[in-house]
Amino acid sequence: MDQDNAYTLLHLTDTHLMADAKSTLLGYNTADSFQKTLATAVTEQPPADLILLTGDLAQEPTAESYRFLLDALSPLQIPCLCLPGNHDDLALMQATLATHLVHCRKHVILGPWQLIALNSQVQGSPAGFLADEELSFLQQRLQAHPDHHSVVAVHHHCLPTHSAWMDSMMIANHEAFLAVLAQHPRAKLVVNGHIHQAMDRMSDATRVLATPSTCFQFAPYSSAFKIDGMSPSYRTIQLFSDGIVATQVHYLSERAAGLITDKHGY
Ligand SMILES: [Fe+2]
Repeated sequence: MDQDNAYTLLHLTDTHLMADAKSTLLGYNTADSFQKTLATAVTEQPPADLILLTGDLAQEPTAESYRFLLDALSPLQIPCLCLPGNHDDLALMQATLATHLVHCRKHVILGPWQLIALNSQVQGSPAGFLADEELSFLQQRLQAHPDHHSVVAVHHHCLPTHSAWMDSMMIANHEAFLAVLAQHPRAKLVVNGHIHQAMDRMSDATRVLATPSTCFQFAPYSSAFKIDGMSPSYRTIQLFSDGIVATQVHYLSERAAGLITDKHGY
């Protein structure tokens, strides 16, 4: 494959920023771990065409937590697309993450690819659901760009993790969502957060990727809530003009993760 023809995404998710950047969550300083993960990603990887952040960007959503994110992302001079998770305040996100480069847009064209961002948040609930307008928007974008390959980004998961506590929160109408994608052979990829662990599976012809968090990770196949000791993480995604996707999950080394204080589970 010719890497010169690829668009490269950096996927960072579930940053869980606190209102006070000095606060910790489950023993992690989430602000430090996000900054360390971001710095590692932009240092270790070739320049990205877009950074994708798929929700739970704030654990305690305030203007300050989104301002912290904006201040970290803006100097990179890379387009950054942010979408909401169950912990986020979309109105605050849209008010703060609203620059030319750092934004909450729902549709971006990347050459022969389009990126469609959906909101799976249910007010007052940690569970996911795609409202009629979100599914209609997806269908409309797919129909409007039949010659583009598509990446659909969304916070919640559409395939089970086989962790009972986690799967109680998956997109409740995931069958309707996947049925829309199955109608469109160029709907190549779904990218989600929320599950704090890696996933790489197929649903018909659509590849479904999840990326671990920039802070703590959840233990796979655990029936109840459980943190494991995996490091903060990010994913690289290369989108080739022929529709091929290449991807890799990168975990920070113990040394690279050294800014994390009071580590939990190590
Ligand atoms: Fe979440």
